[in-house]
Amino acid sequence: MIEIKKVSKAYKNNVVLKDISFKIDTGKFTVLIGESGCGKTTLLKMINKLIMPTKGDIFIDGKNIKDLDEIKLRRSMGYVIQQTGLFPHLSVRENITIIPKVLKIPLEKIEEDTLKMMDMIGLDESLLDRFPNELSGGQQQRIGIARAFITNPDIVLMDEPFSALDPMSRVSLQDELLKLQDKLHKTIVFVTHDMDEAIKLADKIAIFDNGELVQYDIPENILKHPANDFVKNFVGKKRIWTSPKYIKVEDIMIDKPVTCFPNYTVFYCLNKMKMMKVDSLMVIDENKKFLGVLYAESVTDKESVNKKAAEYMLRDVPIVKKGDSIMTLAKLVTESRLSNIPVLDGDNHLCGLITRSSLIMALSQQFLDEEE
Ligand SMILES: Nc1ncnc2c1ncn2[C@@H]1O[C@H](COP(=O)(O)OP(=O)(O)O)[C@@H](O)[C@H]1O
Ligand SMILES: [Mg+2]
Repeated sequence: MIEIKKVSKAYKNNVVLKDISFKIDTGKFTVLIGESGCGKTTLLKMINKLIMPTKGDIFIDGKNIKDLDEIKLRRSMGYVIQQTGLFPHLSVRENITIIPKVLKIPLEKIEEDTLKMMDMIGLDESLLDRFPNELSGGQQQRIGIARAFITNPDIVLMDEPFSALDPMSRVSLQDELLKLQDKLHKTIVFVTHDMDEAIKLADKIAIFDNGELVQYDIPENILKHPANDFVKNFVGKKRIWTSPKYIKVEDIMIDKPVTCFPNYTVFYCLNKMKMMKVDSLMVIDENKKFLGVLYAESVTDKESVNKKAAEYMLRDVPIVKKGDSIMTLAKLVTESRLSNIPVLDGDNHLCGLITRSSLIMALSQQFLDEEE
């Protein structure tokens, strides 16, 4: 874990970072985001002692980095920057292997690791003998990533590594990095000013404004519960629609569906539907456990009105869990052509209902927000 503790940084009278404290989880992808000049690079460079804090401390796995040798510390971390930082007069192979050689790793092992890294970042090994300026921007940045990961560091710092790339290369490098992280589980600290990039990559996002840490949370909470107006504006109201996996059934369900008990008569239930202007009732037991759905249309003959709801309810109906995403829901609605879907919690208690109109209302929100 990296612990940033009451860290401040001032350049003469210009206070760039004000009393920043937060903890960066081991093996997770943490994104630092904020507008240009808000101190992201400064904070990142403090983690590998390229810049010293004016006040406060940084601990890595409980050790104050003040007490650590900065060369050793830097070599124990990968570092990727926007301008790739590749040496132009060295071949791609020499660029990748420079640190492993300094660390006196056996040459056969370096060669093996180099080929493995090239494969992991999706580059052909024939590129190893080229020079950086013979590669595209995207390829160069992939080499930058290979160089940062090849020594198998626990921590990788990345400062806007994809900002200078065209949108297509950018997306494919993001995907590649996610795949890499899926395999390697490094502690990645990644700086960007692009919220879409942050939401796509981050396990946790730290948002900075004017030298202060204004929110530090998982992407879902940043999208749904922005801490203040700055975050709200920075995120933008419609952003969540670009990440529908963060929209959950419980965010859009009706939370008080009309219910009945199984021993109610069908007659009573039909009356209740009429009064409440619904065409079905959710049948539950006294503990709110979901049993089935009674549809008005299932009741076809007069005799049945004196029977019990239990006899006429449908038991095997498709349901969703409250934590399911809106994408799962949309698929179910399309496949089953149902208009009403009960929402259950982990213990199969009824906690809400999705109706066609609640779904349409939720989906139309993305267009309505724009006009407010
Ligand atoms: N060496 C320096 N001397 C004086 N001011 C600096 C120095 N480095 C950065 N700054 C100032 O600190 C602020 C934060 O810079 P930086 O951390 O690079 O921001 P970001 O990476 O978020 O764009 C900026 O206002 C910048 O001008
Ligand atoms: Mg910067």
